Order: sequence, then C-alpha cells, then structure tokens
Amino acid sequence: MAVRLGDIAPDFQAETSEGRIKFHEWLGNSWGVLFSHPADFTPVCTTELGAVAKLRAEFDKRNVKVVALSVDGLESHKNWISDINETQHTHVNFPIIADPAFEVANLYDMVHPNASDKFTVRSVFVIGADKKVKLTITYPASTGRNFDEILRVIDSLQLTAGYSVATPANWKQGEDVIITMAVKDEDIAAKFPKGSTRIKPYLRTTPQPNL
Ligand code: BEZ
Repeated sequence: MAVRLGDIAPDFQAETSEGRIKFHEWLGNSWGVLFSHPADFTPVCTTELGAVAKLRAEFDKRNVKVVALSVDGLESHKNWISDINETQHTHVNFPIIADPAFEVANLYDMVHPNASDKFTVRSVFVIGADKKVKLTITYPASTGRNFDEILRVIDSLQLTAGYSVATPANWKQGEDVIITMAVKDEDIAAKFPKGSTRIKPYLRTTPQPNL
C-alpha cells in the first residue's frame, strides 16, 4: 500500500552501511529524508549519492537526517561507497540501507513493477520531526534527482509548519510568501508585522516571517 502525505512513516529495522538501525529511533527528534535508488555500481546513482554527501552540512543545518536505500546487499554497498568517494570527490557520510529481501522497499512501495520488478525506483520521502510523511516524489531510473530542490522543499515545509503561510511557485529562501486563506484581513497586521501586500482578496503576500 502506498505511503501517503500525513501518514506516519512506517517504522522498520534494517542493516545499513553504518550499522543496524531502528528507523524511528534513529530519526529521534530530527526530520528525515529516506530515498531509494535502483542499484549499486550504476552511473546516475553514483552521482546522486555523491551529490547528497556534498550537501550534508545543508541537511544538518535544517536538522534533517538522510538515509539511502537499494535492494543490494551490505558488502556491495561498502564496496560501492569507495567508488562514490573516488569518482565524486567526496566522502559518503550517511547510511545506505541494504534491503536484499525488499522488506523496506515493499513497506514504502518503492518497487513499481511496470518500471521494473527487480529494482526500486527513485523515491524520496521527507519525514517531519512528528514522524509524519511531508513529501513524496518518484523519479524514473533514467533521471537523477535535484537535491537542491529537496532542500528547497524542506525550507518551505519547515517554514509553513510554523507560520500561517504557503510558498509560491519557484519560491526560495528570502523571498515573499503567501498568507493562507485562513487568516482574516483584519488579523494580518498583528500576525505579520513586517507588512503585507493585498494583490487580490485571495492573494496576499508578506516578507518571509522567520528571517
Ligand atoms: C543509473 O543509476 O545510472 C541507472 C540505474 C538503473 C537503471 C538505469 C540507470
């Protein structure tokens, strides 16, 4: 069964390249990104895991722990990590789950049989500190993901969790945000002391409130 937005992220135990984890316990009070890739020793996946390793400080800044998964085994992961470090000029600094029995892959519906019944697709799950799923994305094997976009979405998720705002198309940190429809015009000045612009009754903007 598919894992949907707002669901509690399914808990599991698994072997990883950094030891056995109990997923919820490992997350602790952090946010999490769980992402799958089709297979070890494949070119796009190699670039993706290198890209994530280089972004580790950005994930840390946002209190986000990252964990990857493929249905390859632990020895394969350990050997492949050497290749990633060598070719991507980085150091893999997050665990990779070994899931040869497809236990976690099936729990998170990461195998899409009409794409392949042997490999996981490129799934991404962003999980909040409350263990609820905040974002799901699925990419095909042929397209490497843009992890700057994952960080951008996390910025939006963390901002909108704390304020009555939403973020517009292509929003980035520091840009104006949209005041949600639940906020009455007469309450805006008190809630958003940085000011606001009323473009339409349903489209009101304010400077990013948490900066
Ligand atoms: C890749 O990572 O390059 C890849 C993996 C599986 C199928 C196709 C490409």
